[in-house]
Amino acid sequence: MVEKKAQLKIEGINKTLELPIHSGTLGPDVIDVRSLTAEGIFTYDPGFVSTASCESKITFIDGDKGILLHRGYPIDQLASKSDYLETCYLLLYGELPNKPQKEEFDGIIMNHTMIHEQLTHFYNGFRRDAHPMAVMCGVVGALSAFYHDSLDINDERHREIAAFRLIAKMPTLAAMCYKYVIGQPFMYPRNDLDYASNFLHMMFGVPSEPTEVNPIIAKAMDKIFILHADHEQNASTSTVRLAGSSGANPFACIAAGIAALWGPAHGGANEAVLNMLDEIGDVSNVDKFIAKAKDKNDPFRLMGFGHRVYKNFDPRAKVMRETCHEVLKELGSNDPMLELAMKLEDIARSDSYFIEKKLYPNVDFYSGIILKAIGIPTSMFTVIFALARTVGWIAHWNEMISGSYKIGRPRQLYTGEAKRDHIPIEER
Ligand code: SDX
Repeated sequence: MVEKKAQLKIEGINKTLELPIHSGTLGPDVIDVRSLTAEGIFTYDPGFVSTASCESKITFIDGDKGILLHRGYPIDQLASKSDYLETCYLLLYGELPNKPQKEEFDGIIMNHTMIHEQLTHFYNGFRRDAHPMAVMCGVVGALSAFYHDSLDINDERHREIAAFRLIAKMPTLAAMCYKYVIGQPFMYPRNDLDYASNFLHMMFGVPSEPTEVNPIIAKAMDKIFILHADHEQNASTSTVRLAGSSGANPFACIAAGIAALWGPAHGGANEAVLNMLDEIGDVSNVDKFIAKAKDKNDPFRLMGFGHRVYKNFDPRAKVMRETCHEVLKELGSNDPMLELAMKLEDIARSDSYFIEKKLYPNVDFYSGIILKAIGIPTSMFTVIFALARTVGWIAHWNEMISGSYKIGRPRQLYTGEAKRDHIPIEER
């Protein structure tokens, strides 16, 4: 097949540069600009709006059509037909597991859920009112101090063991954050429970009585994990890839991803949605806040709306919206917060500003309401996002490390001072 090329004519360089164009299985072509450095020129793309940072086979997003595929499987099918550990297997290995493979994988993960007992002492160093994401940044990074037997990133088996450990231990570490904050004893994982039920057991169980996990709530939790599992080269996944490109160990890379996810423009949005709904308070205030969101001079943004890629409904938000109603029906909750959220969604989606800028509800708009209904505190919402996204982060990290990669090192447009000589202080 004849390779497509882009012709680039640059003033001052009296030749037309020919840049190769690469086509993927799906999605836009890319112009390969790697040869530009030799011509003494860089591309400029703050926020990487128009930049493909890598080649990947894991997840495909079509923002205009609202499509999200994991290894080719649509997210709504995985949410309704799969479970989180099966989705983890798919993201890691590229294919859905057969029955023996699924049983083996589930068994491996559920048998890695305990953490080194000394790690529990890390929590005692934090204030009881520490934000759980601060604790997670610390304890996940600290995992690399305990698992020296799986730190050789060039050893495929080490990479696989590190992936197992991270997927298995995130629920345990996350639940411990919650228990520490509320002053209750840590709950050990139970290998007889499924992944989501085990997480809820560690979150809400107490040593003084047997834990009863509501299967509807566990299924909703598992679905939330699936919907947050991976999302192409988002900010936190790109952070994990950049950290990994220096050869850092997988635990340190995932800790970096957790830190990046914390921001309210990214994974912190689910917590920000609830705080925003709290601030709006009542349907009568919705118009005022919509006006604030539209005001260029007001930094306020409608949390849970808009997306760098989706200029259509986030397909995860559709599934999340259905799950939201299922959970609230099961719990018999008529949370005024949901009614306020529905009203906000209706008004925003019929407003010309949001329509013109293609700002639709994203995955974070509904997840917070479900988590709140389950009884999970707002400060834990992004921790749950990080728990679920760990498989995506580690799948991308492994895809990069197992292939050919270079250390990520962007350049810049320098607009600072030209060379100038030092001035003695008495002459300044
Ligand atoms: C996640 O990348 C991923 O895939 C992320 C994620 C994942 O799974 O990993 O999907 C998870 O992070 C979802 C997004 C959660 N964040 C929020 O809900 C926070 C609120 N949303 C915005 O901050 C914003 O929409 C972003 C950050 C999500 C996207 O911002 P972009 O792509 O950089 O777009 P932009 O800021 O340039 O906005 C374009 C225009 C601007 O107006 P103009 O300058 O063109 O006049 O839309 C406006 C913005 O002011 N705008 C909003 C808005 N989001 C964008 N105006 C009001 N409210 C908003 N929420």
